[in-house]
Amino acid sequence: MSRVTLSRYLIEQTRCHNTPADLRFLIEVVARACKAISHAVSKGALDDVLGSMGTENVQGEVQKKLDVMSNEILLEANEWGGHLAGMASEEMDKAYQIPGRYPKGAYLLVFDPLDGSSNIDVNVSVGTIFSVLRCPDRNGATGDLGEEAFLQPGTEQVAAGYAIYGPQTMLLLTMGNGVKGFTLDRELGSFVLTHDDIKVPETTQEFAVNMSNQRHWEAPVQRYVSELLAGESGPLEKNYNMRWIASMVADVHRILTRGGLFMYPRDDRDPSMPGKLRLMYEANPMSFIIEQAGGAATNGTQRILDIQPTSLHQRVPVFLGSKEEVERVTAYHQE
Ligand code: AHG
Ligand code: MN
Ligand code: MN
Repeated sequence: MSRVTLSRYLIEQTRCHNTPADLRFLIEVVARACKAISHAVSKGALDDVLGSMGTENVQGEVQKKLDVMSNEILLEANEWGGHLAGMASEEMDKAYQIPGRYPKGAYLLVFDPLDGSSNIDVNVSVGTIFSVLRCPDRNGATGDLGEEAFLQPGTEQVAAGYAIYGPQTMLLLTMGNGVKGFTLDRELGSFVLTHDDIKVPETTQEFAVNMSNQRHWEAPVQRYVSELLAGESGPLEKNYNMRWIASMVADVHRILTRGGLFMYPRDDRDPSMPGKLRLMYEANPMSFIIEQAGGAATNGTQRILDIQPTSLHQRVPVFLGSKEEVERVTAYHQE
């Protein structure tokens, strides 16, 4: 049987679901950039790509060399093709303007160029997360594209995905009709469809959270996690297993493979930060993927995809994965 590459899958989407050609091109270009990032990540110490830059990003986090390289790879791959009106990245202060010498297009690309950077130097899976939005009508305005163009709720995403750089490099993609998984065949140089219809099991006995923050959590999360830990003799009457990779892509990938619940709750360490994860670059694309795979995603009180963003680098609490557990922890917030 012939293999279905990402390119062939996208062409079929154009034929069967009227996916616009420029959106198809956009996804192809992002996938090409992810191949380049995968290659850079795999070189490690051989190409001196590990370690820090000695700089901080807009969020006050130390930038790794690969954070900056991955960001540049994505910008350079996407700026010239005429499919984008602008880009925004976790690693950049402001919206990225398409240089005047290039044509502009209908879409906005938003990304976390390298997710899980604390894992790079220890050779644990990292990834790239991306989200595609339509650029709102600018009423003929030709000046710089402002941040407001990007501030659309997650329900407006036309596509979202992530690449995971692990034992295999994979690309997971949704365009609003299910979730497909492609594995990079390094000999062919192509992403090949290997996971046709990814579904998150509704129930689970596995959760992911950074337990070291327990003392900072709010009451509903304290209650919920203590019930998980109580196991069979507690109110939930089953034993739970725990995993925490500290790369959201890797934790979410596990949940898409065998179920589970991922949590990064609000905590009281820094009142200006309602959670750690970023709505635009992490929570929205992952929530779109998880919902398309039959799971659920909330911030404890509200569906993540319904949140109206107020700033580009906004952070949110995140509970996502198997429906039953997301609903349970969300209900505890409402009691
Ligand atoms: P990034 O490397 O893009 O800054 O993201 C790291 C995020 C996410 O991938 C992960 O789930 C979480 O931070 C881990 O946080 P802790 O180190 O606090 O566990
Ligand atoms: Mn991240
Ligand atoms: Mn990152």
